[in-house]
Amino acid sequence: MRTIAFFNNKGGVGKTSLVYHLAWMFSELGKRVLAVDLDPQSNLTSSFLDDDRVESLWSRPSGEDSILTAIQPIADHVGDVRAVNPIRIDAHLSLLAGDLGLGMFEDRVGEAWGRCLDDKASNAADAFRVMTAFHRVIRDCAQRGNADLALIDVGPSIGSLNRAALVAADFVVVPLGPDLFSLQGLRNLGPTLRDWRGGWAKRRADGKVPPGLDMPTGSMSPLGYVLLNPSVRENRPVQSYARWADRVPAVYRECVLGDSGPPPGDDDPSRLAMIKHFKSLMPMAQDARKPMFRLTPAEGAIGSHAAAVQNCAAQFRKLAEEIMRRMDPAAP
Ligand SMILES: Nc1ncnc2c1ncn2[C@@H]1O[C@H](COP(=O)(O)OP(=O)(O)OP(=O)(O)O)[C@@H](O)[C@H]1O
Ligand SMILES: [Mg+2]
Repeated sequence: MRTIAFFNNKGGVGKTSLVYHLAWMFSELGKRVLAVDLDPQSNLTSSFLDDDRVESLWSRPSGEDSILTAIQPIADHVGDVRAVNPIRIDAHLSLLAGDLGLGMFEDRVGEAWGRCLDDKASNAADAFRVMTAFHRVIRDCAQRGNADLALIDVGPSIGSLNRAALVAADFVVVPLGPDLFSLQGLRNLGPTLRDWRGGWAKRRADGKVPPGLDMPTGSMSPLGYVLLNPSVRENRPVQSYARWADRVPAVYRECVLGDSGPPPGDDDPSRLAMIKHFKSLMPMAQDARKPMFRLTPAEGAIGSHAAAVQNCAAQFRKLAEEIMRRMDPAAP
């Protein structure tokens, strides 16, 4: 089972939309997918479930589980993670639902990070259980749903909650926009990822890990970035955005890959895809609670919209295939 986090501390760059569409696309391509909502805003959960279902999910007691149901005992210092059932969305797609209350876990994971290196074994053991909670819940849910791929959506921050989420990630994909703020975010993101990766490796090596605990590698390997264009003409960003898009390869290479070699040319190998802004297809798809590439004429996808649906399917299929190829370079 592979776990990919979609992460950028810049908000509103399309992380959630990307996870949602890729979850559907990977499942269309035959993967068994677990979509994981670790953002307390829980937009991914609202993308999958209609308003009534979301409301009932978050009113306690609820018949359905969220990530908070799973980690509540550990957050409350009364036990370890609880086994939960992901919500079945489709034959090959399940959702580990988010929760507006997840933010209450932030302080607990914040102080656990330092305590993993505590000399006292019982303190360190508790801290490692806290730091691995997301990983263990995701693994357990993936096993129950037979998932071979987990896609994690996180909020736009470089705080403790996201550090714990990223510790659970084998791979990271960076969604970004061609603008000043995205580039600034990228400059922060690279060192942050390196810091978290190195910090977790140190804790694994030097900390008193309780025997038998399922420990993630925390490898957070960068697979590449996805450029989400506010506006695209003939697959090229319009002029005002092109200036910013052109700067992304060098900044990604230097800040995320830590590589100070010559900047890559136009054909940047780290660019996984450039995804078009599909304008009104998105609100139509949100209304229908389905991905943009599955919209039908009955839902308004007629004329130029129908062509955009086809284009959207092609873009997401290509991106999903590229991600699979990069996770498994040896595969045919
Ligand atoms: N390819 C796209 N085509 C059209 N609209 C899009 C596309 N991608 C994202 N959007 C829209 O852009 C807005 C921001 O997207 P989204 O919520 O996915 O970003 P985010 O990075 O998850 O935000 P946050 O940082 O708040 O979690 C939303 O209104 C979404 O519907
Ligand atoms: Mg989001």
